[in-house]
Amino acid sequence: MIKPIKGFSKLTKNEKVAWVVATFFKDNSNAEALIKRYWNDDDALQQLHDEFIENTITNYYLPFGVAPNFLINDRLYTVPMAIEESSVVAAASKAAKFWLDRGGFKAEVISTTKVGQVHFMYYGDKDKLQEFFAAIKPKLIEDTAAITTNMKKRGGGILDIKLIDKTKALDNYFQLHCSFETLDAMGANFINSCLEQFAKTFKSEAQIYSSFSEKEKKVDVIMSILSNYVPECIVRAEVSCLVEELNEDKNIAPEEFANKFVKAVEIAQIEPYRAVTHNKGIMNGIDAVILATGNDFRAVEAGVHAYAARAGQYSSLTHASVENGVFKFWIELPLALGTVGGLTNLHPLVKLALEMLEKPSAKELMQIVAVAGLAQNFAALRSLTTTGIQKGHMKMHLMNILNQLGATTNEKDMIANHFEGKTVIHSEVVNMFHQLRAS
Ligand code: MEV
Repeated sequence: MIKPIKGFSKLTKNEKVAWVVATFFKDNSNAEALIKRYWNDDDALQQLHDEFIENTITNYYLPFGVAPNFLINDRLYTVPMAIEESSVVAAASKAAKFWLDRGGFKAEVISTTKVGQVHFMYYGDKDKLQEFFAAIKPKLIEDTAAITTNMKKRGGGILDIKLIDKTKALDNYFQLHCSFETLDAMGANFINSCLEQFAKTFKSEAQIYSSFSEKEKKVDVIMSILSNYVPECIVRAEVSCLVEELNEDKNIAPEEFANKFVKAVEIAQIEPYRAVTHNKGIMNGIDAVILATGNDFRAVEAGVHAYAARAGQYSSLTHASVENGVFKFWIELPLALGTVGGLTNLHPLVKLALEMLEKPSAKELMQIVAVAGLAQNFAALRSLTTTGIQKGHMKMHLMNILNQLGATTNEKDMIANHFEGKTVIHSEVVNMFHQLRAS
C-alpha cells in the first residue's frame, strides 16, 4: 500500500523523480532512466516546460505533423497537427488534396460572442432586485475599467450584462449573464477577472442599497466563471462540387457515392450512437490543430458537444446535401480560440505552428480549425461508405506493430510489401516477423 506524501510539490524535480521511482519502480532500474531520457538537454527549454504545470517529472511527447494543401477561402495553408492517432494526418492531407482540385474550402465566422456568469442567491423581493440591478449596472462596468482598458482600445470588451431569474429551476438562484468580445484572445483570464470584479461590486453595492432589507442586502455570490458553452461564437466551413466531380474512386459511381455519403450524415443526425463516433472523427482533426496551436482542447470539446446536443438530442456537427447535381458538405460549430496570450506566447512549437499559419487572427484560426474538422469527417465518411476504415487504419497500425516488435527497416519493407492490399491481422504480422527472423 502506498503511503500519502506531504509537501510533494515542495520537493525538487530530482527528489520527485526519486520518490516516484522508489514508490512504484523499486524493481525497475530503467524507470528513472526512462523518465530522464525525455528531459530536454536545453535547460532553458526544459525549465519552460517544467513550469507550465506543478509537479512536472518529465515531458510527454506527441507527434507534431503537418497536413499541406488546404485551400481555404482561396488561400493555401499547411495545417499543423499534434496527435497520437495514426492515420489522422494522412486522412486530413488526403481530404485537403481532394478538395484542392475542386475549389477548396469556404469558411466564415458567424459570431464571436463569449459568455461568463456570476451565479448568486438572493433572498427577497424580485422587483427590488431588478431596480437595484438597473441602478448599479453602469457601476458594474465602470469598476472593471482597469481590466478592460486595453481590450477596449483594440475594439473588444464587455458587450452586455443581464440579470437572469433562474428561481423556477432552483430556489433563490439568479445570474448576471455577461457577454464579451475578446478579439484574438481566448479571453478566459479577461472574462474571469471582469466577472470577479462584477461580483465584488454587486455584493458591496447591495450592502449599501437603501431599499434593500437586511436579508436582501446579503446577496450570496456562489461563483463567477466564464462558460465554455459558446453558441454565439460560431464558425461555418463548407465544400461543394458537381456530383460528377466526386470521381476519384473508380470502384463507385459519383452519384452512388454522393447518395451514400449524404445518408451517412443523415444517420449521424438522427442516431446518437453514430453521432458520437461521427463527431469524434471530426474532433480528431479539430483537437489536433487546437493542440498544435496551444489552445484549450477540453474547453473546445465541452462546448462543441453541448452544441451538438442543443436541440435535446445529440446530433451530427456536419450536414450534407445533393441538390440539382451539386454535392454540398458543411460544418457549423462553436469555437472559442485565441492566437495571442496563454500558451501561444510561451510554447516555442505553438509559436512555430502559428507562424506556419502566417500568424492568423482568432477568426482565421476558427476557420482553419473548422475546415480541419470538416476534412477529417469527409475522409472518414469516404472510407466508411466505400472501402471501410480498417484498410487505411491497419496500414498505419502495421508500422506501430512492427515498431513494437523492433523490426529493422528491411524487415518492415518486406512485411509491408506482403500486406499491401491485404487485411492486416495482428497475429499474422507477428507470425511473419518471427518467421523472417528465424530464417
Ligand atoms: C476514428 O478515430 C474515427 C472514426 O471512427 C470516425 C467515424 O467513424 O466517422 C473513423
